[in-house]
Amino acid sequence: MRIILVGFGTVGQSLAKILHRDRNRLVKEYGFEPQVTTIADSQGFCSKEDGLDLPLALKVKEKYGTVAKYPGEGRRKTETSRIISNSDAEALVEATPSNFKDGEPGLSNVKQALATGKHVVTANKGPLALAMPALLELATHKKLQLRFSGTVGGGTPFLSFASQCLPGEKILEIRGILNGTTNYILTRMEDDSLSFQKALTEAQKNGYAEADPTNDIEGFDTAAKIVIIANWVLKRRISLQDLEITGISKVTPQQLKQIKASGSRLKLIGRLSESRASVRPEHVPLNDPVCVPNALNAVTFSTEHTGDVTLIGHGAGGERTASAIMRDLIDIRGTYRV
Ligand SMILES: NC(=O)c1ccc[n+]([C@@H]2O[C@H](COP(=O)([O-])OP(=O)(O)OC[C@H]3O[C@@H](n4cnc5c(N)ncnc54)[C@H](OP(=O)(O)O)[C@@H]3O)[C@@H](O)[C@H]2O)c1
Repeated sequence: MRIILVGFGTVGQSLAKILHRDRNRLVKEYGFEPQVTTIADSQGFCSKEDGLDLPLALKVKEKYGTVAKYPGEGRRKTETSRIISNSDAEALVEATPSNFKDGEPGLSNVKQALATGKHVVTANKGPLALAMPALLELATHKKLQLRFSGTVGGGTPFLSFASQCLPGEKILEIRGILNGTTNYILTRMEDDSLSFQKALTEAQKNGYAEADPTNDIEGFDTAAKIVIIANWVLKRRISLQDLEITGISKVTPQQLKQIKASGSRLKLIGRLSESRASVRPEHVPLNDPVCVPNALNAVTFSTEHTGDVTLIGHGAGGERTASAIMRDLIDIRGTYRV
């Protein structure tokens, strides 16, 4: 499988490391022999028809800050959509930053790849949050796969669990903590009476929160994940604008103390049922399995016959997300033969 990798930050570089490190096992166990033929970052790209040397690309990125300096095959910025359409790769991996305003640059990249006959695996939630129904339709129309396991739960397989492990079951409600950064902030505010700002600064120092934490703390990241679950698991064709969204930026340590005294915790909860799709801080009883601390994620699937099933795991992280991308690529490889 020839792969175009757009976005060479935490996730993109982790994927390159895993693909290189695990290459013998991937061939032996899955007959999967990926070749990354193009890598693009914000400053340029490098391309090699018979596959780039991934350790070299990683070294070049570390030394020069851009893959445009890849010896002999690197180029300064050109339009990414042109690079995608000119390539004869089988798949695009999209790992540019999630943008919930207009979905770019990821939205154009995903559309361009599907339009020119490439399967897509995206870690980027922006295009899905804003246009998932249309993108799924385009992929189906083109008989291509659009996969996104890494967008929800990092390595914890919330999406595969719901879509593959509960066949025949009716899922009545999906509810849980889908953002590790906000859970970490709320836990720190509660345990040590830190102000919101102090807890946020600590989360940034420890690598849980990004320099611009708006998407996490205002609930957009959780909302994007609810949109993805709704479309994929419940086949509900909704987008970000269909959700009621409230974040945690107005929560105070006093509020958390009072809630704790009453036997509950305040958590940023994404909730999805037939009649409702919302993200907001909610009181969660201490004995509810969704009431997990620190940066953990937890999601309860309420089903008609099995009752409640809860999955708990680490939500994000470059390597975990890269491993979810690899699962998707292996799955896609199983759907076609070259
Ligand atoms: N990190 C996680 O744990 C995690 C987990 C799940 C999902 N995700 C999602 O995965 C995506 C990537 O996350 P990340 O943590 O790897 O982000 P990151 O470290 O900020 O990397 C983003 C990459 O995208 C590149 N980029 C930005 N604009 C571009 C453009 N116009 N054309 C080509 N490349 C462009 C950046 O280039 P430069 O290197 O030149 O700046 C960088 O290489 C995001 O959408 C994120 O929400 C991340």
